[in-house]
Amino acid sequence: MRLLLVLGSAASLVAVAACNSAGEAPPDQQAEAARNVAAGEAVPDDIAAVMKARHEHYEEMGKAMKGIGDQLKSGSPSVETIQGHAALIAGFGPQILTWFPEGSGPETGVETRAKAEIWQDAATFRERAQAFEAESARFNQTAQSGDLEAIRAAVPALGKACSNCHDLFRAPED
Ligand code: HEC
Repeated sequence: MRLLLVLGSAASLVAVAACNSAGEAPPDQQAEAARNVAAGEAVPDDIAAVMKARHEHYEEMGKAMKGIGDQLKSGSPSVETIQGHAALIAGFGPQILTWFPEGSGPETGVETRAKAEIWQDAATFRERAQAFEAESARFNQTAQSGDLEAIRAAVPALGKACSNCHDLFRAPED
């Protein structure tokens, strides 16, 4: 099946190029996927794999954020540990847009907190993802400076860049 990226830099496109076949504009894949699910068809393997990897990456980002907070709360924060977490988060920043190909939303019937709005309002989603990418790079730079107080002061802006996207595009937990 053809995966259409919400959007992506050239590098992102290359990352999923293996799944792409050149061609005309795709049909409405969300509606198609919904019909397929309704007809009892399995979700395509590539889509299921994208969704699973997406979830795992977010879990890693969540653990890294928590790890940063834990260090800052501890009596003797490890700057090195914080730097590792910051680098991981910043590394994911530019990848996020590649985690949401068309047809990998709630219409699949696969458990997901990704809202249909990600594809319906792709421009806003892209804007939030890019804002996060910039913020995570900024935070990583601060972290690599090793200045604990500067790091502490920079955490809220990073957290806000996460929640700015979650507020619009992540469904509540069931
Ligand atoms: C551009 C949007 C966007 C940004 C930025 C973003 N997230 Fe998310 N996040 C999502 C979406 C959408 C999901 C649901 C994905 C799914 O279930 O398929 C999610 C899921 C998660 C999950 C898994 C929760 C669960 O129950 O499935 C965690 C943890 C998480 N994000 C943490 C973070 C952290 C921490 C940051 C910032 C460091 C962050 N996210 C930045 C959109 C975003």
